[in-house]
Amino acid sequence: VNVAGVMSGTSADGINVAILRITGTDEDIRFELLAQSETAYPTAVRDALLRLMNAQVASVPDISRMNFLLGELYAQAVQRAVSKTKLTTVDLIGCHGQTIYHQGESALHLGKRVSCTWQLGEGAITAARLQTNVVSDFRPADMAAGGKGAPLVPYLDYLVYRSKTRGRILQNLGGIANLTAIPAGAAIDDLIAFDTGPANMVIDACMEHLFDKKYDAGGKVALSGRVLQSVLNKLMRDRFFRRKPPKTAGREEYGREYLTHLLQQCRRAKKEDIVATATALTAKSVGIALERFVISRVRPHTFKDYVVAGGGLKNRALMKMLAVEIAPFGLTLKSSDDFGVPAQSKEAIAFAIMAYQTWNRRTSNVPAATGADRRAILGKISYA
Ligand SMILES: Nc1ncnc2c1ncn2[C@@H]1O[C@H](COP(=O)(O)OP(=O)(O)O)[C@@H](O)[C@H]1O
Ligand SMILES: [Mg+2]
Repeated sequence: VNVAGVMSGTSADGINVAILRITGTDEDIRFELLAQSETAYPTAVRDALLRLMNAQVASVPDISRMNFLLGELYAQAVQRAVSKTKLTTVDLIGCHGQTIYHQGESALHLGKRVSCTWQLGEGAITAARLQTNVVSDFRPADMAAGGKGAPLVPYLDYLVYRSKTRGRILQNLGGIANLTAIPAGAAIDDLIAFDTGPANMVIDACMEHLFDKKYDAGGKVALSGRVLQSVLNKLMRDRFFRRKPPKTAGREEYGREYLTHLLQQCRRAKKEDIVATATALTAKSVGIALERFVISRVRPHTFKDYVVAGGGLKNRALMKMLAVEIAPFGLTLKSSDDFGVPAQSKEAIAFAIMAYQTWNRRTSNVPAATGADRRAILGKISYA
């Protein structure tokens, strides 16, 4: 069947779509990438989204409107990608939606322990516009099964990158940085996966605040600055980096308040140095995570490849710093593209495959990654 996967990540930069032809099931799933597309959110939509993610300002009517609006925008984005293929339509759509809130850890709320997540993008709208069945809202079912609802991409990672002889670490650099480590010959229950901290989110916030730019194109600004070591050392003392996986992060941890916190420590510093420091924060937190929770946990460690995906791959400063961080572990730096999975479409591909599993009443969470008690069929179906 032909399936579209739709992803819009915490960067809130836009919508990635991948169109796949999928055959087989579970661990024998095979797919061919027919087309991909990237559609930036209109500036007004992005600004509104960033406001919604700031819990102090969001209003219920605004959230509700955005939910339906995104359903429309996702339909348009899928249509654009479909028009790049010979197809006139797809059989199924898997749509992650836009996270406006994610609390993976449960905490006491009104007398009950609650963990929760909220993705916008009304599946019924997308289904109606394209006359196609839609699976959306993948995370709640994992949380209902005791998981943190993230990360979900390890399901794809295991399908594509597992190897009998080479342990592989898959690193995604979106707004948040997350990794999946697959030891050589691993079963799906042997995966290690978690969020290592920020990827582009803090860099983007600095760029926006200091340079009025959305991101540090090519990492040029960071390359022209110097890392403020004492600030970096302080930032690295954050409790999040010490916490054992499974763990997840988002705008709740590395959003607006974090930027204020960072800027307070950088008074009188050069703007370029602040961006370089934010970039080093990402690289360093990845390095620490690898050492603490991956390399030292798998003995003897069989990891050979470090495979990067996501927008961070385009930041040369970040990639340079990451190369330094992984050097002690004897890993070879690769791009997801080398494995036939274009770096910017990896997550969209993942949600196409998860939708396909759901449509076939099959599970697609990875309990080793999310901390769930059991496998679960993810998502909700909106029929065409
Ligand atoms: N040319 C580029 N140079 C540097 N960084 C880039 C470039 N293009 C994209 N990025 C970074 O990648 C981010 C988007 O990455 P993406 O993988 O889409 O993240 P998400 O899944 O959170 O949406 C942008 O916010 C930006 O920080
Ligand atoms: Mg994105």
